[in-house]
Amino acid sequence: MDKKWWKEGIAYQAYVRSFKDSNGDGIGDLGGLIEKLDYLKELGIDILYLNPINKSPNDDNGYDISDFRDIMDEFGTIKECDALIEGLHDRGMKLVMDLVINHTSDEHPWFVESRKSKDNPYRDYYIWHPGKNGQVPNNWGSFFGGSAWEYDGGSGEYYLHIFSKKQPDLNWKNEKLREEIKEMIKYWIDKGVDGFRMDAINHLEKDENFPDGIIKEGEVYGDFLKYVQNLPSVHDYLKELRRDVFNTDYHVVIGETGGIGYHNAYIYTGTDQGELDFTFHFDMHSVGKGNRDWERKPIDLIKDIKVNMSGWQLRKEEEGWCPLFYSNHDTTRTVSRLGDDQKYWAESAKMLVTLQLTQKGTPFIYYGDEIGMTNAWEFQLNDYRDVSVFNKHKDLVQSGLVSEENYIKGLHYTSRDNSRTPMQWNSSENSGFTTGTPWIKVNYNYKDINVEKQLQDPNSIFHYYRKLIALRKSTDTLVYGDFKDVNREHKEIYSYIRELNGERILVIVNFFGNEPVFILPEDINYEKAELLLSNYDIENAGDIRTINLRPYEARIYKI
Ligand code: GLC
Ligand code: CA
Repeated sequence: MDKKWWKEGIAYQAYVRSFKDSNGDGIGDLGGLIEKLDYLKELGIDILYLNPINKSPNDDNGYDISDFRDIMDEFGTIKECDALIEGLHDRGMKLVMDLVINHTSDEHPWFVESRKSKDNPYRDYYIWHPGKNGQVPNNWGSFFGGSAWEYDGGSGEYYLHIFSKKQPDLNWKNEKLREEIKEMIKYWIDKGVDGFRMDAINHLEKDENFPDGIIKEGEVYGDFLKYVQNLPSVHDYLKELRRDVFNTDYHVVIGETGGIGYHNAYIYTGTDQGELDFTFHFDMHSVGKGNRDWERKPIDLIKDIKVNMSGWQLRKEEEGWCPLFYSNHDTTRTVSRLGDDQKYWAESAKMLVTLQLTQKGTPFIYYGDEIGMTNAWEFQLNDYRDVSVFNKHKDLVQSGLVSEENYIKGLHYTSRDNSRTPMQWNSSENSGFTTGTPWIKVNYNYKDINVEKQLQDPNSIFHYYRKLIALRKSTDTLVYGDFKDVNREHKEIYSYIRELNGERILVIVNFFGNEPVFILPEDINYEKAELLLSNYDIENAGDIRTINLRPYEARIYKI
């Protein structure tokens, strides 16, 4: 058992922009975070992970950095950042920071120089290419809509941007660039940052033959994934960073790696690789999505959930650690996607977190999930803020491929802005998030769903999270214990046993709104079943051989 603080801690992801505004400009900030550290402590949080806080013109909400060593104007100052780190460390908490190093803002001084001329010393920090027959170099489409190439009139060439055109991709082949990045990371390490989540990190190398991609049905651009993702040099760059900047025994190094799931994550996280401690995957981001964004399909518990979640659990120790999360700033809301955010809102939110906090890995709670925040079902086109919403509107609706109605319906089911609405602190105007005008609309349901209300209600989702977190911390079995599925083929019930040093914990959840019967397999012996936690009141809790489960019921036993 290789014990580490980042394996035992409970992490919380705050989308700073939407968490708490301290000065009334409608934008969440570092001051707001500092105000709420005791709230996080009360919930039981040990690790705070923040989306980018560096200086940025905010084309993609901070994922377009113009100064790596400074703080975004709207978020505060370096001084406040120091105070935040101190406030965390004083409370025994750690900070994980986002490192966006696949690209910068086009307003970063490196790019400003780079675009000046073909022989500028910074030219090679980015990926430039001449056009083909007066057109873009190839048919690649960016992740956020539109071509992945942008023409630069001044120097007569195109630059590559796999995200928005204000996010030019860095050229990692350039050694000088790599040295500058390393110095920058050391600057944050010296400030006391405890870990890093490296954004879009498996895109660091691109296929420099730039071949056209295949254009799929209903699409405008060629699919470029295999030319920009998980190419061999990415491993060299990660090893170099690990060797030259991170303290392997202490810092936690996490990578966001699209296209990598439980079966192949070891290529980055294998314990002898010297690359990443764990990866953020995309395995459950689109559960329930039909063929097109506006179409739904029922969740298949085995294929959509157990295969993924148990898949991560059953990996070998030497394949590395993993995160436990459903949602982040790039997904929709957990309870809306995987539970029932209407009739069984509280039951299903509690059921979902029961799975999340009783498996092996580091739990990342996405802000607002602890009170069951939902998708922004009432948003209209103008309520959205995400740059990709408008780029894709151009590609799909304005070009006549998709109707406006279907597009909006698709946004309700899939837009990232569902998970970016302001934190719902109380039932006052703007949910107590700001005294000004929020940068994005507050969800219509904030009077029903908010922190203040749930703090007062002992049966709330918040208090269930709190109890469950305390339970997880009370025993190493839930952190390091082995994992074994129970009734793996059951289509409605997810159940498993965690075991360590003779202690066994049995988890049983009903994933849907029906009332299935749980039958304990005969080969599982127990003398006494002690109920540790449940989302319903239970009589005769001790007999676990046959259980009539209620909708979204969840139980945790020591057996
Ligand atoms: C990652 C981030 C996402 C961002 C993109 C570009 O996928 O999680 O929010 O838009 O990278 O930096
Ligand atoms: Ca503010």
